[in-house]
Parts: sequence; structure tokens; C-alpha cells
Amino acid sequence: MKKKSAYCVAVVGATGAVGTEMIEVLEERKFPVEKLVPLASSRSAGGTVMFHGQDIPIQALQKDSFAGVDIALFSAGTDVSREYAPIAAKAGTVVIDNSAAWRMDKDVPLVVPEVNPHDVLHHKGIIANPNCSTIQMVVALKPLHDAARIRRVVVTTFQSVSGTGREAMDELMDECKDLLGFKEPTPKVYPHQIAFNCLPHIDEFLPSGYTKEEMKMLHETRKIMGDSTIQVTATTVRVPVYVGHSESVNIETEKKLSANDARAILSTAPGVLVYDDPAHQIYPTPLDAAGKDEVYVGRIREDESIQNGLNLWVVADNLRKGAALNAVQIAELLIK
Ligand code: A2P
Repeated sequence: MKKKSAYCVAVVGATGAVGTEMIEVLEERKFPVEKLVPLASSRSAGGTVMFHGQDIPIQALQKDSFAGVDIALFSAGTDVSREYAPIAAKAGTVVIDNSAAWRMDKDVPLVVPEVNPHDVLHHKGIIANPNCSTIQMVVALKPLHDAARIRRVVVTTFQSVSGTGREAMDELMDECKDLLGFKEPTPKVYPHQIAFNCLPHIDEFLPSGYTKEEMKMLHETRKIMGDSTIQVTATTVRVPVYVGHSESVNIETEKKLSANDARAILSTAPGVLVYDDPAHQIYPTPLDAAGKDEVYVGRIREDESIQNGLNLWVVADNLRKGAALNAVQIAELLIK
């Protein structure tokens, strides 16, 4: 991409939970935007989004939407990315795609700026933003991997409804209202009631019994960390939280790391905030991390059941570090 003083940036899915956040993060971080092109479905055309105090008209996404666009941040789902990302790339736009459509394509870098920033250099028009749960986990694990080589990860996630999108956020609110009014809720987005409940089911089930979300955590972690030997086994759970994914992460390392070693390493790691003082009830919760950029890590303990193991509790804002912020950080690397 040619270096410029400011860029034409499109946001595909500009009205969605992640798209809205992308526009906010572009503004907050003063990304050099010469022109913002908000794109959504034809349902939203004619509406506006606010950017630097101005109402910018939303346009319906079309094949010719990318003329003159330098960078497009995609957050309108896998089908839209599969169809339109190659069209945009062909028009000379660099696509930063938040969907699962291109993540495991060998020609598409999968980037977390704190972990593998130089992979951005190898793009051929499309760069993928990893899955939200994977992003926050690898930000916390990379410095520990560098220090002690992680062999195996056992992770359970507690993922907020905003990861599914706006309709799911509305569903949680509607179900809460129904239940508090003694009315039976009717789930539409999720297969079961999400209010006051937990669903061990994110994305589709595979014949193995795992979900696609669980397998993303294995395959994407290996690709981002550049280490195909790391073993990851995951259970991903949807919980009735609006914003912020939490993860219970158990790691087994080649070299011994004490909890204090891990705390010291993580306290200087990029993008990480160690929030760990159980004696004073200090540990990360989704409410702490919502609206923040850092990946919060707490409850750092040695796993006493094995020789070299640690337990961590990792929390981040899934819409920001898990999606919009990571995408904008990739755009920042691109123009550097
Ligand atoms: P729209 O609001 O017009 O439906 P979320 O992940 O929060 O559900 O948001 C999805 C985003 O993707 C919204 O901005 C939505 O626009 C957009 N979107 C969905 N389908 C399409 C499509 N076929 N073409 C363009 N944008 C789409």
C-alpha cells in the first residue's frame, strides 16, 4: 500500500456491534482517515454514523463500493467476507477481515500485533483478525511461551453475548425483561434461553463433538504463535454477560515458571494488565475489562497437579481487543 498522510477507510458492517466499535476506535486512536466509508446492508442505507462530530451517510455494500478505498475493515459476517473481501482486494483495497472466512488460508496472515506483527508484511490483499477468544489468550500466553515454551493449553471460555452481535444483545435484554415480568421468553438467536443461563455451545458442532469455536482456538493459536506443536483443548461457553470474554486457562510448560515469574513476565508484556491481588478481592471481571484496551490477567497460580503448570484467568473486551481494536492496530502496522 502506498504511504499517504491520510487514508480512505471503509467499515463493512458499520451499524453492527463490532463495526460501531471500529469507527469509535479509529476516532479515539486518531487513525489518519481522509474519508470514512460506512457500509452495511441496504436496510441501513440512508442512515448515518457519527465520526469526528460529523454525520457520515451509510451506503449499501455493493461490488463497486471499494473504488478509491485504501483499507477496509470487515465485520459483517463470514458470508459477506467470503464474497466481498476478494472483490475489495482486487480493487486494490487492503482488507482487514474480522470473520472466520480467511483465517486459515495460507496466503492470509492472521495477526495479533503484540504477538506476530511482522506477518502483516506477507499479505496479498487480505489480513485476518483472529477469533476474539484466541486473541486475548495469545496476548497473555506469548510472553510465557517465549520464557518457558508452552506445550499444552486447557482453556474454558465464558463468552459474552456481544460476540454474537447486536441481535443477541437485544435477546439477553428482552429475556431478562420477560423473566422479571414472569413471562416465558422465546429465544430466537440462541437455541436456548441465555438469560440466567450458560450455553456450552458457540458456533456449529462438528462430528468430533467439539464446536467450530473450540477448534478455532487450537488452529488459530498455532498459526499466530508460529508453533504447530502447541496442544490446545477448549470448551467454549456463552454466558449472560453483555461485553467481555473471560477465560480459565491452564498451561503446561517445558521449563518451570513460578507464579511470581509469570506475574513478573506478564507485568511488562505488551497489551497485558496484571490485575491480581486476591487478598484484596482484586481479579479481573468482564465489567472491569469492558471499554478497556488491555487484556487483564489475574488468579495467577501454579498448577500443583503437574510439574510445570500454571493457571490464569484472562479477561478482555471482546468488541475491542477481541475485534475492533485488534483490527485498527493491524491497520496501524500497515501504514507504519
Ligand atoms: P445492517 O445493520 O444493515 O443489517 P452484528 O454483528 O452486530 O449483527 O452486525 C452485523 C453488521 O453486518 C451490520 O452492520 C449489518 O448491517 C451488516 N450486514 C449484515 N448483512 C449484510 C450484507 N449482506 N451486506 C452488508 N452488510 C451486512
